[in-house]
Amino acid sequence: MAPRHARSGSLLTGTSTPSRLARASVTPLLVPVLETPTLGDREFSLLRDLIEREAGIHLTSAKKALVVARLGRRLRALGLRSFGAYYDLVSEPGGASERVHMLDAISTNETSFFRERKHFELLEDKVLPAWREAAAAGRRSRYVHAWSAGCATGEEPYSLAMVLLRHLPPHAGWHIDILATDLSTRALDKARAGIWPIEKADTIPGEYRRAFMLRGVRAKEGTMKVGPEVRAVVRFAQLNLHADSYPVPRHCDLILCRNVLIYFDQGARARITSRLLGHLQPGGYLFLGHAETLHASCAADMRTVMPTVYVRRATESGGAGGGSG
Ligand SMILES: C[S@@+](CC[C@H](N)C(=O)[O-])C[C@H]1O[C@@H](n2cnc3c(N)ncnc32)[C@H](O)[C@@H]1O
Repeated sequence: MAPRHARSGSLLTGTSTPSRLARASVTPLLVPVLETPTLGDREFSLLRDLIEREAGIHLTSAKKALVVARLGRRLRALGLRSFGAYYDLVSEPGGASERVHMLDAISTNETSFFRERKHFELLEDKVLPAWREAAAAGRRSRYVHAWSAGCATGEEPYSLAMVLLRHLPPHAGWHIDILATDLSTRALDKARAGIWPIEKADTIPGEYRRAFMLRGVRAKEGTMKVGPEVRAVVRFAQLNLHADSYPVPRHCDLILCRNVLIYFDQGARARITSRLLGHLQPGGYLFLGHAETLHASCAADMRTVMPTVYVRRATESGGAGGGSG
């Protein structure tokens, strides 16, 4: 039986000729891995302030290791030897495309299908039946506009689409339009592709999985894809919530901005929430993430339905069942 190193294909076997050994020594099989440089306090402050100015993402000094790990990859990809050189590149006016990569690297896109299930249950059990009733009585239209702000890789807007399509079906005259936005272009590319490892199906309730998801076969074994009916009602766009205004319709019935505000400081959270509410019509619902609450400055316009879910109070002229058209 051949020695172990010979079986595994090593070039350095006892049968190697001198010329083979020489070739092996001039053609290294392994090159040194570039070490990530140290991130000094000054460079950390510069990068942290740039990230906050660009995206509102607030990084405390506890996040220094995360910055080293994530931006270290960019340094290696670009062949740069210091974070100072990276800052120079990313902060210059011509560094716009690298700024996109930087924010892609920094943003955390963790998400899952039907995350925070109780939000979807509230829609199924209370909100959507009330809308159906209001539409039947002519008190609201059958158009539904929803916005998933900070949609990451798409699981959130696709989950919402499944719930809306099932409970407000097109054959009953309903029109669903979901805008899904995120800062990260990398996350949006994945969202548009709409393909995930099959394990991601575990959190999708069976009725939705069977009705709306497609399982890959042969070369696609082990993957799943979101079906065409769901895809057709979700559109994706890049949008920075830190911007002064949002090019989004002002009459949303539902806004989901979940597990996004946690990245901002108090002031930015208040500004963003107030801007979001400007896109919610009276009677429309705002859903926040489990660790997020509505800023006090917005409380007068909103009624709490359950922790993390708020409904916009009806104005004198509009009704809570108003609906969009
Ligand atoms: C943890 S994920 C939440 C995903 C989904 N909403 C959920 O709850 O499962 C946070 C998302 O917020 C996005 N984000 C961070 N800062 C943002 C900004 N300034 N504008 C828009 N999106 C931002 C990130 O790119 C990331 O995809």
